[in-house]
Amino acid sequence: MTVNAHNELPIGVFDSGVGGLTVLDAIRQSLPNEHLVYLGDTARLPYGTKSPASIERYATQAAAGLFEQGIKLLVVACNTASAVALDALREQMAPMPVIGVVEPGATAAVAAHAGGRHLVLATEATVRLGAYRQAGEALDPAAEVREAACEMLVALAEEGWSSGDIAAAIVRRYLDESNGFKPHTIILGCTHFPLLRDTIADVAGSGVLLVDSASTTAAVVRTTLEGNDMRRRADGSGTLRLFATDGATRFARVGGRFLGRTLTYQDIELVDL
Ligand code: DGL
Repeated sequence: MTVNAHNELPIGVFDSGVGGLTVLDAIRQSLPNEHLVYLGDTARLPYGTKSPASIERYATQAAAGLFEQGIKLLVVACNTASAVALDALREQMAPMPVIGVVEPGATAAVAAHAGGRHLVLATEATVRLGAYRQAGEALDPAAEVREAACEMLVALAEEGWSSGDIAAAIVRRYLDESNGFKPHTIILGCTHFPLLRDTIADVAGSGVLLVDSASTTAAVVRTTLEGNDMRRRADGSGTLRLFATDGATRFARVGGRFLGRTLTYQDIELVDL
């Protein structure tokens, strides 16, 4: 393939479900002329409660599914898959650049509050590996990072119940479990959680800054494409294809909110990995 034809290929983005659309949207805004393909592995969601071996298997199969579509760069828009399987994915896809979301999320938090206290809300698997604590403390040794597993927030986001009394009560319960730890920032360490941003901000109260990895990941994607001379040359808007492994109607219902437009099941292509 010539360099130009390769540059025309889409950026591949995957998550276990709709959550990674928060990252996709940030990439779309930052790089509007790039083609994008998104895969939500909805048949096997949630990843966050699974064993590392299963998560790695699912993530490598999702990456292979996107590779078959022809992509030039892979974004692992799932903190759980980034925490567990980034090295395996980089090995599998080499020499294609593979970008995860944990390091960009930690970078955003320490940039927002140097030497601060950071509370990470994430899935069980991400917390078990201490992925954010390690990334945050490596970037800023003075930072204090606590991690809280908030698995039920994934279900709320997938269900589209991101506001109201039920969502607020569940968020409050998780924040209460951090036992008096008073964070400067709350890191939304799961790509599903930006959907609950307003509810989490209300419950956390003023003075706590909410940080997610969407815009910092989009910035890393841009720098990587530019640094490797991989930007699409054409000016016209990029296309978007959406794939899911199950539940096209549900994916369309919830996913449309992230993308700010109405989707129907016909916009979602079902694939088997
Ligand atoms: N959105 C995923 C993450 O960022 C995980 C949700 C799940 O499948 O548990 O961790």
